[in-house]
Amino acid sequence: MCGIIAYIGDKKASPILVDGLKKLEYRGYDSWGLATVDSGKINFVKSVGRIGQNLEMTNLVGTIGMGHTRWATHGGVTDQNAHPHLDCEGKIAVIHNGIIENFAKLKEQLINEGHKFRSETDTEVLSHLIEKYYEGNLKEAVRRALLCVDGTYGIVVISSKEPDRIVAARHGSPLVVGVGEGENYFASDATALMPYTKKVVFIEENEIVEITKDGFYTITIDDKKVDSKIHEIDWEADLAEKKGFNHFMLKEIFEQPKIMENAFAGRIIPSEGIAHLGGLNLTTEELLKVKRIIFIACGTALHAGLVGKYMIEECASIPCEAECASELRYKRILLDKDTLVFVISQSGETADTIAAMREIQRKGIKVLGISNVVGSTIARETDGGVFVHAGPEIGVASTKAFLAQITVLAILALEFGRVRNLSFMEGKEIASEIKKIPEKIKKILEQNDKIKNLAEKYRDYKNFLYLGRRFNYPLALEGALKMKEISYVHAEGYSAGEMKHGAIAMIDEKFPCVFVAPKDSVYDKTISNMQEIKARSGKIIAVTTEDNYEIEKYVDDVIYIPETLEMLEPLLTVIPIQLLAYHMAEIKGLDVDKPRNLAKSVTVE
Ligand code: M6R
Repeated sequence: MCGIIAYIGDKKASPILVDGLKKLEYRGYDSWGLATVDSGKINFVKSVGRIGQNLEMTNLVGTIGMGHTRWATHGGVTDQNAHPHLDCEGKIAVIHNGIIENFAKLKEQLINEGHKFRSETDTEVLSHLIEKYYEGNLKEAVRRALLCVDGTYGIVVISSKEPDRIVAARHGSPLVVGVGEGENYFASDATALMPYTKKVVFIEENEIVEITKDGFYTITIDDKKVDSKIHEIDWEADLAEKKGFNHFMLKEIFEQPKIMENAFAGRIIPSEGIAHLGGLNLTTEELLKVKRIIFIACGTALHAGLVGKYMIEECASIPCEAECASELRYKRILLDKDTLVFVISQSGETADTIAAMREIQRKGIKVLGISNVVGSTIARETDGGVFVHAGPEIGVASTKAFLAQITVLAILALEFGRVRNLSFMEGKEIASEIKKIPEKIKKILEQNDKIKNLAEKYRDYKNFLYLGRRFNYPLALEGALKMKEISYVHAEGYSAGEMKHGAIAMIDEKFPCVFVAPKDSVYDKTISNMQEIKARSGKIIAVTTEDNYEIEKYVDDVIYIPETLEMLEPLLTVIPIQLLAYHMAEIKGLDVDKPRNLAKSVTVE
């Protein structure tokens, strides 16, 4: 969604701001803007479309400034609605992520008091409110303005009246301070700061921070001083570069063998057949008390939760559910103290997931997190949890984070399983096999060209049905999501057995099916489903286990994957479905990393 970057120091601000905004592009946006302070005035530019289409536009003078990418919520996609928004006199400029819920009432009051509005946005009330409360101290004016506001915000404010400082505040939308030498930054996402500093301060809820080029000062909205801690981020800057790949998505698919190793490193001991996720802070007694597990997430992370459900039920015989956060939040949630709740989120900032997490915490239930972004809201507000160590994921379509999530879930299943039903030998087999998966992923990646040819063959089909059973049912859902979100081709994911109860009516020679069907305990049943499709002239692409050549009798095209334990199959079957979706979108010439209408992190409900 919207992105924020701000800089104060001795260098020219605008190139740093443009570079930062480009790093935030992946979040999704429809317009952008920059503002700097120089020689007692605010210079600004704002525009619909891609950042810096016209270099002159971005060449603002000044060593203090801020930049914004907007994803429209209130008011259409127009130059005027892009941020920054200025006060009546053009001396205060604001950029904002989030939604001001009481903006209509505030706007009416401000108009009655004589303020002149220029946009249809909710954000503009902030610049006028700050103007109203300004009495020579920008930080104080921001604080007083925010006391009037309902809703969510991450804001950054500059003023030509105080050209040696920038003020920011957070309530519901993430912001970090980047701490440099003789220069400081704000950003909505630490990724934008990677080339400049690894030292960050995560701004907490209801905090206001003022930066100068030499330091930062934090207060709460109630005007109490806060001693913020500086954290060191260990992500490598080149993880956010394309490194010769045409798209971040392809690069991130190819990174997966390494990402998986990062996700299990130090967490499994194959010789003892055990696993341990330290961040959960659960003793063996506590693990044994768990009678039910609920995974809460959205989109791809929800599919990971569903894989986790199958894995844990298999290994530990604990009933599990995977619930969509936006639904769970509004229902009567039946929980007791023996239920363990996990929220899963790559970004750690998904509004629906955060709202569901808070709702459950309100009922006194512990919530653990499985997230990728250190310092994210979910990482900070959960009562424990684990990082998946996937590094920055830039492509809007989640790939490596999903693999890292299901790796962590396999480890979780092993940990729960070994204190319950799993024998030493079974634990050993699972842990050893997890270690072998990265090499097997590499073998699948070698088939990239073959999968690209398949995408070419099926490029003109308008619909796909993805089918799988048991551990691969969530992969059918994930395959369909990947296909539709980046290639805009209609695709549905179904349980292969459920297909005949309705979806089969759509099948004809123009409606192909992708079967995720390794040679496992449900393979024979899946072959029957393939025959049902073939009897209706449907075309079939199958993902199955290597050497299973007999499948060629039933299907039109096959992608082979190495053999593994049934519960670990999703760690391999996910690779061909990611590549198929990628190539389909790439062949169509689509903007793979930034699909239309989508944002990397969905911070509105
Ligand atoms: O950051 P999160 O994992 O919480 O995001 C959840 C979904 O918004 C996300 O997985 C979305 O479905 C992706 N675009 C899928 O590729």
